[in-house]
Amino acid sequence: MNLLQWLGDHVLIVGGALAALIVLFLLIKVLSKKKSFLGGKAAIGLDIGSSHVKAVQIRRLGKAGFELERFGIAEIYPDGDRSAVTMSESEAKVDAIRRALAQGKITAKQSISSVCGESIIVRYIQLPNMPEEEIRNALRWEAEEYIPFSIEDVNLDSVVLGKSEDGEKVDVLLVAAKKDQVNAHLELIRSAGLTPLYVDVDSFAFLNCYEINYNPSVTETLAAVNIGAEITSINIYTGGVSRFSRDIPIAGNTITRNIQQKLTQAKMAADWATAERLKIQEGAPDVASLESIGTGGEDMSLLETIRGTVERITGEDLGENAPEVVAGRVIRSTLGNLVGEIRRSIQYFENQPNGRAVQKVVIGGGTAQMKNLDKFLAHELNLPVETIDPLRRIMVKSRELNSALLESSKLMLGVGVGLALRKVVE
Ligand SMILES: Nc1ncnc2c1ncn2[C@@H]1O[C@H](COP(=O)(O)OP(=O)(O)OP(=O)(O)O)[C@@H](O)[C@H]1O
Ligand SMILES: [Mg+2]
Repeated sequence: MNLLQWLGDHVLIVGGALAALIVLFLLIKVLSKKKSFLGGKAAIGLDIGSSHVKAVQIRRLGKAGFELERFGIAEIYPDGDRSAVTMSESEAKVDAIRRALAQGKITAKQSISSVCGESIIVRYIQLPNMPEEEIRNALRWEAEEYIPFSIEDVNLDSVVLGKSEDGEKVDVLLVAAKKDQVNAHLELIRSAGLTPLYVDVDSFAFLNCYEINYNPSVTETLAAVNIGAEITSINIYTGGVSRFSRDIPIAGNTITRNIQQKLTQAKMAADWATAERLKIQEGAPDVASLESIGTGGEDMSLLETIRGTVERITGEDLGENAPEVVAGRVIRSTLGNLVGEIRRSIQYFENQPNGRAVQKVVIGGGTAQMKNLDKFLAHELNLPVETIDPLRRIMVKSRELNSALLESSKLMLGVGVGLALRKVVE
């Protein structure tokens, strides 16, 4: 049986010695021939999410570090409600890119962007030791062994992560993205008047942001988790490189959608904005109440606890079907599913022959702003959870930037910052 079939998943972890610290630079070059021509011009990190477009422009400040020059954020659908617009998804995204650029007064014309989701295949494979150019050539012929698509249908990229201890093998990170998806993505960018320079992968851009801001040591093993609107990406970093990457299709909008559905089922008027407001208001379950019922608590006792908490806060006597109670229940179960997937990914990685114990989880993305989420994840995963600051080592041109907006949306900028930094650390 093929190992990949056995895994039945979109990931593969490879054994072998851990590589020395290398900076991951995983990019599908879309304009490689013109790179030297374009190399000197300003480029932005452009994160086209499923709910928000984020544009980030960073410049290098000599040896002193980096400076955030400009940034812009635009919601793709008003109040996140897809049903509120008649435009197609791509038209809405192009419109949001234009709004994000206008809001940030961004005039740079080149972009470094990223893709994510189930049609992006990331594999960690081991090959006989040979020069990197030969590896690329070999993979052009052999990649089909590792990916579930025909080679003609994908853009391929690979990065050598390191050699095995005996020096006979090399660990290689292989990324394949469906050409259809990459082309549609490039079309969006061009329609918005930008020139795409590189296309990266969300989870690697997020990890890049973490690496540059926190400079983790080679002895650290951590999971970088970006929790967005539709996708939660997890990238496990150990020995100075990425050794596991997976996109989980559960995130913030999954919670909002589920709340809206449950309220509708309970015959309560529920538009998207109401469900979104309830999600933000309720936040993740309070760890103290989880502890008081124990992890194996029955649904009813959990319900009582949630209701009790809401009643204490609002002073209202809430029935079992009060919107807040329904929302609390949905949040708990959807986050439960998400935690289950994160836990499975971590365990899968740890159980590989060369896996290591994950020491901590670092989180970012819009959903990382959810009240109590860090504490809830720490409790459920039994690991320290740290919310990252994507601008920790990046100075801010504060006089020219909207600092209130920056403060309130900083957590959404991880991928955009990681992308923008690809150019300035080049
Ligand atoms: N205070 C908050 N509490 C809970 N959720 C929040 C809060 N603020 C923002 N969010 C959620 O964050 C999500 C948007 O985050 P982000 O911009 O990272 O996603 P995205 O990049 O557009 O999506 P994806 O990467 O999944 O395609 C939305 O689901 C939104 O509801
Ligand atoms: Mg995102």
